[in-house]
Amino acid sequence: MNYTEQYRPQFHFSPQEKWMNDPNGLVFHNGVYHLFYQYYPEDIVWGPMHWGHAISKDMVHWEHKPIALYPDEHGLIFSGSAVVDHKNTSGFANNGETPLVAVFTYHLMEGEKAGRTDYQTQGIAYSLDNGETWAKYEGNPVIGNKGIKDFRDPKVFWHNETERWIMALVAGDHAKFYSSKNLKEWSHISDFGKTQGAHGGVWECPDLFPLKVEGSDEEKWILIISINPGAPNGGSGTQYFVGEFDGKRFKSDQKEPKWLDLGTDNYAGVTYNNTPEARRVFIGWMSNWDYARDTPTEKWRSAMTVPRKLSLRKVGEDYLLANYPLEETNSLVGETLAKDVSIKGKSTKLLEIENLNQSQIQFQSTSKDFKLTWKNELDEQLELIMDSKNNHLLFDRMKSGQVNFQSEFGNKKHHMPIGKLGDGPYKVTILMDWSSIEVFIDNGLYVMTSQIFPTEPYNQLIVQNMDEESIINNINVHRMKSIW
Ligand code: FRU
Repeated sequence: MNYTEQYRPQFHFSPQEKWMNDPNGLVFHNGVYHLFYQYYPEDIVWGPMHWGHAISKDMVHWEHKPIALYPDEHGLIFSGSAVVDHKNTSGFANNGETPLVAVFTYHLMEGEKAGRTDYQTQGIAYSLDNGETWAKYEGNPVIGNKGIKDFRDPKVFWHNETERWIMALVAGDHAKFYSSKNLKEWSHISDFGKTQGAHGGVWECPDLFPLKVEGSDEEKWILIISINPGAPNGGSGTQYFVGEFDGKRFKSDQKEPKWLDLGTDNYAGVTYNNTPEARRVFIGWMSNWDYARDTPTEKWRSAMTVPRKLSLRKVGEDYLLANYPLEETNSLVGETLAKDVSIKGKSTKLLEIENLNQSQIQFQSTSKDFKLTWKNELDEQLELIMDSKNNHLLFDRMKSGQVNFQSEFGNKKHHMPIGKLGDGPYKVTILMDWSSIEVFIDNGLYVMTSQIFPTEPYNQLIVQNMDEESIINNINVHRMKSIW
């Protein structure tokens, strides 16, 4: 694959060409991880939506497949999910095949243009050859619309206890839940969230799943809700709720929003259905509606986050959702560029490393007061500042390279509160891939994902430890291999 353009991610998924947004239909079946995505094949800005398609056997390398779903008379194909219908509850299989069923939102442009509010409905499609070819269900739409303007992004999963399919859907400022025995007929069972969490924008892309607390048998249910605008650092963001689900109702006593990622560029993320080893794997779209259409790439637009494993940590009485690159990502760690560098209190080190733009940086720190600066020959610079007095991590891309393509991109520093970080040494992992940086503090307890567009690769890393008493240990920098 010829993935050599400026800013082209080398170890993240991006489409060969044209516009991409949300990950859709994340499902594992017969040894294959499917990644569908919002796709407009005609331009590098958003347009009539299709489902693009790619597959992976190892969650590292991806193979591009033909477009899976095209718009039809019911509308464009917006975001949604896919399930493996093991028991053929849908009846789509006639010869013993196992249907894959995609559940998505139809968006009828004519309806929107006419000023109506009922133009988003839910439809389904099925594949009997493991996602190679798809047919729409002739009874579409399976859920109509009685006048809810934003009514979309169905996430469906099989609920064992009630032996039913459950669908989480968003309706403007809250989530709605539906259940079904056959994926075709759905009943509305409950609502959640009108008075809980963040409400600075429209709710989008819900996901609902159980997760065990790390190191215990306690199980909680997590509801992920993307919101746009209204994220703490501007534009699009991903919040979550920790609670219980009894097959009918999701309940959470959480009033304040919690955020899965406090970078500006992790949106519309959802998790895989049917994954082996019962792990929860999350992929997000590495962009933000504030400037997604304006980023300085020409052939394609945007990329996905690395696939991340979700885990639930109990910190004091609080439940926090951590997300961290899948173990498989380690197979991409290549050449060593710096090894076991330590930086004592009140000192600074300059590491000159050719092309940091495709690298992994890892270290252990007892310091909560440090600064990392990436620099290039043009004096463009990117800063990450851990600041214990203010209990936050600051990310500054204001002078990181091209920032003026849209006013919201480089106009402020981004803050992430880190109040629940323990006192012991903690690990920091940073993945940089030409036009993105993903920062994971304490194995994903705190995460910041951001796009960056340096004009030239960074070739200096300056590490400054401002805290006298503490040490930054084992700084290791590695080249990340290309997956293309
Ligand atoms: C989220 C979103 C979804 C919608 C899709 C349209 O980014 O707005 O709510 O289904 O994108 O492309």
